[in-house]
Amino acid sequence: MKRLPRNTILVGDVRERLRDLPEASVDTVITSPPYFGLRDYGVDEQLGLEPHVDAWTANLQRVFADVARVIKPTGSVWLNLGDSFSRHPRHGAPPKGLLLAPERLLLALTEDGWIVRNKVIWAKSNPMPSSVTDRLSLTYEVVYFLVRSKEYFFDLDAIREPHRSSAAKRSRSPRNIGGGWAGPLAAPREGLRRSGIVRPGHPLGKNPGDVWQIATRGTASAHFAVFPEELVRRPLLATCPEKVCSACGRPWRRRVLRSRDLPTELEGVITLPELRPDCRCGAPTVPGVVLDPFFGTGTTGAVAARYGRDWVGIELNPDYAEMARARLGLTPPETAA
Ligand SMILES: C[S@@+](CC[C@H](N)C(=O)[O-])C[C@H]1O[C@@H](n2cnc3c(N)ncnc32)[C@H](O)[C@@H]1O
Repeated sequence: MKRLPRNTILVGDVRERLRDLPEASVDTVITSPPYFGLRDYGVDEQLGLEPHVDAWTANLQRVFADVARVIKPTGSVWLNLGDSFSRHPRHGAPPKGLLLAPERLLLALTEDGWIVRNKVIWAKSNPMPSSVTDRLSLTYEVVYFLVRSKEYFFDLDAIREPHRSSAAKRSRSPRNIGGGWAGPLAAPREGLRRSGIVRPGHPLGKNPGDVWQIATRGTASAHFAVFPEELVRRPLLATCPEKVCSACGRPWRRRVLRSRDLPTELEGVITLPELRPDCRCGAPTVPGVVLDPFFGTGTTGAVAARYGRDWVGIELNPDYAEMARARLGLTPPETAA
């Protein structure tokens, strides 16, 4: 049986190297594949330089079919994608038109059974200056959050943020939330409607929401599409468990604190509830594992190591793999920690 390599970079084509990983073995995937037609990573077999956007979509769809095999049933994927403009009708859109590459891929992944839970806007606080005069400049990218089943691991408490509004900080007074039919697909509000109140201000902080203001990283390194570390931190803490049962692989979870059970004045005083096993194995624990199948310079691995999680990277370009090894303090070649 295959064993999951931990804290290792697998050098090669993602379409081959993913087959080296065992089924249902990784807890989360955080990755940014090459966008369509934007960069040349200097190696044969690289993705992103397909002649038509639909060929790019089909290639990545195949990669994510393999990703579906290697993630655990409780696992998830954070997929950072950007779009590009067509230069020729043969790329897949009239010249000057956005190719809608992320949308094409996400629709294909949905057909394959992926459940899209969030579309996070990475709002760049330092967007590239642009000289265009006939459209708006591009100031954001998207990070999609996908899962395979309705039950998955998500530790919201680990990524809550301090409340900003004084209303949320102070208010304990009941507030009528109003009613009315919200539409056939609106999120259920029965619980709130029945109690007739909302208590703003969860004592552990607020949900960070789906618009993240994060600066892009400089391009001092020889690699030009490096993740900002903050873009990895939140996904990692939310979906890569700190502890996993070494026998059955199930993540340990926290007891969920409900805001109505706790006074908001305790914000910042209450520590996170302890993690507890979700199984009866009684076996020792190991850290959760994050996979980045387009590892580049290893940002996902660096953030994982900082927070005590294990990681696996796949990277086609040996020079980038070498940069990642140096950054992660590994000795060549492919040394497991
Ligand atoms: C957007 S970059 C990832 C950057 C990374 N997130 C970081 O922080 O450094 C995409 C990476 O995918 C790699 N890549 C392209 N085609 C690949 C393939 N077929 N298999 C594996 N890696 C590939 C490129 O060499 C590049 O390093």
